[in-house]
Amino acid sequence: MSSFWISTKPNFDTNFPKCTSSIHCDVCIIGGGITGIVCAYYLSKAGKHVILLEQDELAYKTTGNTTAKITSQHDLFYDYLIQTFGESYAKQYLNANEQAILDIENIIQSEQIDCDFEQKSAYVFTQDPKNINSILKEVAAMKKLNFDASYIKEHIPLTLDPILGAICFPNQAQFHPRKYLEGLSKAILKNGGEIFEYSKVTKFSYNQDISTISLENGINITAPVTILATRYPFLNLPGFYFMKMYQSTSYVIGLESSKIICDGMFISCDRPNLSFRSSLVDGKKIIILAGCEHKTGTEPEVPNPYSYLESIAKKMDPHCKILYHWSTEDCISVDKIPYIGNFSTFYPNLYLATGFKKWGMTFSHIAAQILTDTILGKENSYANLFSSTRYSPIQNKEEVKNIVKESVQSLFLNKLSISELDLSSLKNGDGDVFEIKNQKLGVYRDENGKLYGVKPICSHLGCLLHFNSTLKTWDCPCHGSRYNYLGKCIYGPSNQDIPQITFSEKL
Ligand code: FES
Repeated sequence: MSSFWISTKPNFDTNFPKCTSSIHCDVCIIGGGITGIVCAYYLSKAGKHVILLEQDELAYKTTGNTTAKITSQHDLFYDYLIQTFGESYAKQYLNANEQAILDIENIIQSEQIDCDFEQKSAYVFTQDPKNINSILKEVAAMKKLNFDASYIKEHIPLTLDPILGAICFPNQAQFHPRKYLEGLSKAILKNGGEIFEYSKVTKFSYNQDISTISLENGINITAPVTILATRYPFLNLPGFYFMKMYQSTSYVIGLESSKIICDGMFISCDRPNLSFRSSLVDGKKIIILAGCEHKTGTEPEVPNPYSYLESIAKKMDPHCKILYHWSTEDCISVDKIPYIGNFSTFYPNLYLATGFKKWGMTFSHIAAQILTDTILGKENSYANLFSSTRYSPIQNKEEVKNIVKESVQSLFLNKLSISELDLSSLKNGDGDVFEIKNQKLGVYRDENGKLYGVKPICSHLGCLLHFNSTLKTWDCPCHGSRYNYLGKCIYGPSNQDIPQITFSEKL
């Protein structure tokens, strides 16, 4: 199921080769999503010889499945920021994101990128009377920060009924992310940068002077500076980011409707959450409806998130046509603040940017600017806000407890045993973990009754996987790696598949 962005821009104009010869460069960037591409753009523009490595295709995974809202409104967040980190911190966070919106607009103009950029207002709304107070608190927080946000109850330009109240941020924006990144990739090449697709990194050897990045075909790239822009860092140590982040899964549908009004970007603060925006393609308006976010590897709040989103759309317009289904995966740090900067104090020339908490359009640009300034030896006033080596960032103790609890539970589950395998409870289209001869067995039964087996143990750090029956994937509750039903790793931090089990032989 391809996203709207991939379906409407399946290929970039330029073909990027696979890396087949060893190269030395100034900066090697691993990961060809929006963060890696913007880093490569800024650094190549500053005269650095940049190599950008992507293991699949550019802007395909997280970036190709986003909702592409360019906004400083990150759910209801500023009251939390003021309470947790203080007013000055919240103001800086806001300024960094507002600056990123301007930066994107300036890049689009200067590189003349046709990417459906539009200024829109952004709204957080509620349909639940219990949440009105949280919205009012956010409005008060924005007043403290001298930001022109308003509370509105009527004439909200979204035909969802009822909307009880909303906070509106003016002058935010939206675009088509793949069209934008196609333009940036052309600019990188023009600036002398090199981009390689299907070039998977399998090993990284750090050296303070020159690090070596080894690809699966045996080619080595050497560089004094490396940036990990892989959404979730694939190196575990010495960064320990797997102890400081979790991942969440959201579901998205794209639909055509002549009746639904959706003039702006909207997100609810209710559960399950809902998010709306629209996009014009070939003169036709597509409504993008996302939501039902849940921690990866756990059950969603509704049995089938796609059906739930479709039911919301049908209530708004019974004649709407559902055209697209896709899902997305986001990294969230335990204190809800991204990590941008050094991977570790022990590895001063290795940088990363991760934990964008669903707001990667602005944070990719904030990260690229911070990392570019740092690499060029320039001051950046926002660098300390998101410092990746910040001391004891743990504020959300519940989340840390969850990560630890799930890791420990998985260890115990590995030791359980049952005497025989009974698959009668397994419905078509669903999967589950069974145990036979002291071995865990993950079984998926497809819609036609065909069985597929995997070893359901995460290849990252060994947690027991959980089957997501909506997406037909094996998901890790510990740090969010995901595998398709054949065991192929589709989302990290793991970068290895899990073994497939030939089902009939095992039984
Ligand atoms: Fe870390 Fe699965 S993602 S153990």
